Amino acid sequence: MKAGAGIFDLDGVLVDTARFHYLAWNELAAELGFEFTMVHNERLKGVSRMDSLEILLEIGNIQLSAGEKNLMAERKNSRYLQYVDAMTEQDILPGVITFLQKMRESGKRIALGSVSKNARIILQRTGMIGFFDAIVDGTLISKAKPHPEVFLTGAGLMNLPPEACVVFEDAVAGIEAAHRAGMKCVGVGDASILNQADLIISGFHGILPEHIPL
Ligand code: BG6
Ligand code: MG
Repeated sequence: MKAGAGIFDLDGVLVDTARFHYLAWNELAAELGFEFTMVHNERLKGVSRMDSLEILLEIGNIQLSAGEKNLMAERKNSRYLQYVDAMTEQDILPGVITFLQKMRESGKRIALGSVSKNARIILQRTGMIGFFDAIVDGTLISKAKPHPEVFLTGAGLMNLPPEACVVFEDAVAGIEAAHRAGMKCVGVGDASILNQADLIISGFHGILPEHIPL
């Protein structure tokens, strides 16, 4: 890595919680009487909880009052938290810990850039929280990705200019957010979906910071 810092998305990059978000939304959609597929789910990645619900309701062509929407969002979150409650360090994606350790050893800074309000609980449960110089989550920002606020806030907390940071993302909205923040972005996941990233890796397994030419 040439950059002095990495800003990591959480869900789907460091832990497999993107799957739990999908399962929780999928169960809600089933109750509402329509099918919510993994293809639909790509549109929800990096998007805030309420915006995700709006997209879900649009897919199911369902109208709800503001009060009903709040209840739905709460229900989704309690289901999601049932999955999160069972998480341990075993749920950290392969290669992540080694990658973060090597970054630390080479003096790179590490920040979290997630729009999730549950990010700190997950970092604590998985024992990763000690790696981070700065944590930006959904409680600190008001605009979800693709807005660059989450990443610009992360750079600000580390006292670094945007160009000193590389973002790691599994969401299309997250790649756009990184570019709008003036940062290079490594897409983590499926190359056919993340084709706007500056570099794509399928995951961190076998990947070290020196393999990232950004
Ligand atoms: C993002 C996920 O990290 O967090 C989205 O990619 C999710 O799918 C968003 O909707 C908000 O998460 P939470 O935990 O605050 O509902
Ligand atoms: Mg993600």
